[in-house]
Amino acid sequence: MCGIVGYVGQPGAVDREYYALDVVLEGLRRLEYRGYDSAGVAVVAEGAVEHRKKAGKVAALDAELEASPLPHSILGIGHTRWATHGGPTDPNAHPHVVDNGRLAVVHNGIIENFSELRSELSQKGYNFVSDTDTEVAATLLADHYNKDAARDLTVAMRLTSQRLEGAFTLLAVHADHEDRIVAARRNSPLVIGLGEHENFLGSDVSGFIDYTKQAVEMGNDQIVTITAEGYEITDFEGNRAEGRPFEVKWDAAAAEKGGFSSFMDKEIHDQPAAVRDTLLGRLDEKGRLSLDEVHIDESVLRSVDKIVVIACGTAAYAGQVARYAIEHWCRIPTEVELAHEFRYRDPIVNEKTLVVALSQSGETMDTLMAIRHAREQGAKVVAICNTNGSSIPRESDASLYTHAGPEIAVASTKAFLAQITAAYLLGLYLAQLRGNMYADEIADVLDELQKMPEKIQEVIDAEEQVKKLGTDMSTSSSVLFLGRHVGFPVALEGALKLKEIAYIHAEGFAAGELKHGPIALIEEGQPVFVIVPSPRGRDSLHSKVVSNIQEIRARGAITIVIAEEGDESVKDYANHVITVPQAPTLLQPLLATVPLQVFACALAGAKGYDVDQPRNLAKSVTVE
Ligand code: F6R
Repeated sequence: MCGIVGYVGQPGAVDREYYALDVVLEGLRRLEYRGYDSAGVAVVAEGAVEHRKKAGKVAALDAELEASPLPHSILGIGHTRWATHGGPTDPNAHPHVVDNGRLAVVHNGIIENFSELRSELSQKGYNFVSDTDTEVAATLLADHYNKDAARDLTVAMRLTSQRLEGAFTLLAVHADHEDRIVAARRNSPLVIGLGEHENFLGSDVSGFIDYTKQAVEMGNDQIVTITAEGYEITDFEGNRAEGRPFEVKWDAAAAEKGGFSSFMDKEIHDQPAAVRDTLLGRLDEKGRLSLDEVHIDESVLRSVDKIVVIACGTAAYAGQVARYAIEHWCRIPTEVELAHEFRYRDPIVNEKTLVVALSQSGETMDTLMAIRHAREQGAKVVAICNTNGSSIPRESDASLYTHAGPEIAVASTKAFLAQITAAYLLGLYLAQLRGNMYADEIADVLDELQKMPEKIQEVIDAEEQVKKLGTDMSTSSSVLFLGRHVGFPVALEGALKLKEIAYIHAEGFAAGELKHGPIALIEEGQPVFVIVPSPRGRDSLHSKVVSNIQEIRARGAITIVIAEEGDESVKDYANHVITVPQAPTLLQPLLATVPLQVFACALAGAKGYDVDQPRNLAKSVTVE
């Protein structure tokens, strides 16, 4: 999704070796992980706005800047665009420059009433050179600036924001004002970074993490004007507002690949730490679970009669895993709903419903809209989220943060394991509160959870076998995944990873569903991953999956079986066995998912694809 950076410095105030363009380009590189298809920058120098923009990656913009350099400046904005209105072309890239080349605007989001505004502005005599909603917003801003705002950029932004519907972060610079950036946000991310005689704006803190750790979170429907010496926030009516200052805990190194071939590879290796850190600090001195962040009245939590987990994509699969555990531990009926479907099926939600929203980014618009809907119906919402200060936790009644650290690769890996871990903690917390489990039972599960980081590490240490399989199978045109119980969402996640980054047909099935149709797909040489539950769990579950392996093997499938150490029963029917350490059935997804991630990453790598930025995908989907 689009990335935005803004920078204002102060010439001569301190000895600095960089200019606005250096900061903005560095910020855009850091924000590349959000996914984009064009990039652009604008600077203001000597009373003029100059800009460059290019379809493609930041590297293409770099080449353009080398061929046609911009003047040194202390004021600049930059943008990486993920096309919504209008294709990924040079003219549609941001910034959009209007007002006879004097006003430059970058934008993230979608302006829903843009065609109505475009006709209105066309009637006033304005012409448009792109197909974008952004150019419409920029033109409206110019119109206000030159008319009713008396050339005050902040006032013009306020008047413009009042007219816009939809979601937007807008940043504007004008040739008349070499000292400021004016920005507005509604339902779209924007964070302020504070430096010494310099200030920053970013879609998230990665946009300025190389320069400062001091940041300020803005509220919705607010405008900020930043100069080198400060910032001022108002609402869309012009009333003064306060931001929430916070210190960024990530360091720049945390956002780097750390010597791995890709961010995805690095993030797969981050998983023991992601799970360990998510478990940290959740117990009180008596060893009881205490989730400080879940400050919803205990009586409300005790009266909950239904849980609805809302999420999209990988996060929804984490929710599906968690459902098995939550229902089992808490005896509360639990549904998992794709956020974008939830609102439209008129769900039965009321004040006895607990909605659990899972989101790595905290900015997924479908999930945000779903929680707003749930809260309107009286439900309480707990967000399980990886991004502090993002919209979903801000708009929830309580939040439980996963501590996976920044996830840069578009395909989610460590966030998935951390989401399962956090959702399990929530399930255990509810069971403790409602008295569904004895304290020693909860302590046993927590003990097992504490052992998981080490076991995940063991799976990672044995990754060479899986990498080789991925490379050897790089010419496969289809891979299937089977699982039962908690293994079913793991199979779905394995298939999603392969689709996303290797662009091959992959499907996950509930193993029991095979005979109802999918077994017809099995032919000689079809690779099929099978996630086998622990033989120490429910025997019927295990033996049924072993029978499934026999059935597909007999029809020519190449079977790649993920089974627990010591499970001898699968050997005769498996072409390849990947073993994972022993763990309770409900915790096995934290182990069995890892080889599937490694496989997809290796296979896509062998095909020569960019695993971190797969085609057509954005890291954070901030439009519905
Ligand atoms: C898949 C993936 C997506 C996200 C989904 C939700 O690898 O990354 O399916 O899981 O877009 O994103 P968040 O968790 O940010 O709400």
